[in-house]
Amino acid sequence: MRAIIAGVSTPTPLEQIQIGPITTQDSEPLFRWFNDPQAARLDYAWRPVDGISHQKWITSIGTDPTQIWFAIRRTGHAGIIGFVILRNISAVHRSAELGVRIGEEGDRGRGAGKEATRQVLQFCWQAQFIDGEWKNVILMGALRPRVAARGS
Ligand SMILES: CC(C)(COP(=O)(O)OP(=O)(O)OC[C@H]1O[C@@H](n2cnc3c(N)ncnc32)[C@H](O)[C@@H]1OP(=O)(O)O)[C@@H](O)C(=O)NCCC(=O)NCCS
Repeated sequence: MRAIIAGVSTPTPLEQIQIGPITTQDSEPLFRWFNDPQAARLDYAWRPVDGISHQKWITSIGTDPTQIWFAIRRTGHAGIIGFVILRNISAVHRSAELGVRIGEEGDRGRGAGKEATRQVLQFCWQAQFIDGEWKNVILMGALRPRVAARGS
């Protein structure tokens, strides 16, 4: 979908999008996108993904502590339009790599990649999901009274 503004064709922005977990229903579009060499070659050295490996991957997606996958969806819609991955998460260095893909050409350039990246970065800075929202955790400590002070 495109809009014409002052003679220039610009893509219509997507309605609101949100990030969330990958589900088994996302398997087919993800398999298709992983096997889209045109899009993948802009990200990494592409190689085809076979169906058996893909099934194994999607059933074990939450088990690798060094990676987190997020589905990108239009708010209120079940279908996946893209994904964000945090990979090489290092608890020691508190670092990670972020990758983002919008699956279909027609959904690109309409703000979804930028908004999904913003939401995942929010996730990265927050510590606990409580009562439906991400909360910062404030670490507090109490100092043990000094031995000399206690001893007198
Ligand atoms: C790259 C991609 C994730 C961007 O998501 P998107 O929803 O299309 O992009 P948005 O509309 O949110 O635009 C976000 C910004 O990225 C820029 N942008 C979009 N596609 C771009 C591209 N291929 N190259 C450089 N910049 C791009 C936009 O101009 C915009 O910049 P601005 O904030 O300064 O205006 C998406 O187009 C995609 O998956 N493309 C196919 C794979 C690909 O190109 N991968 C490269 C990743 S390094």
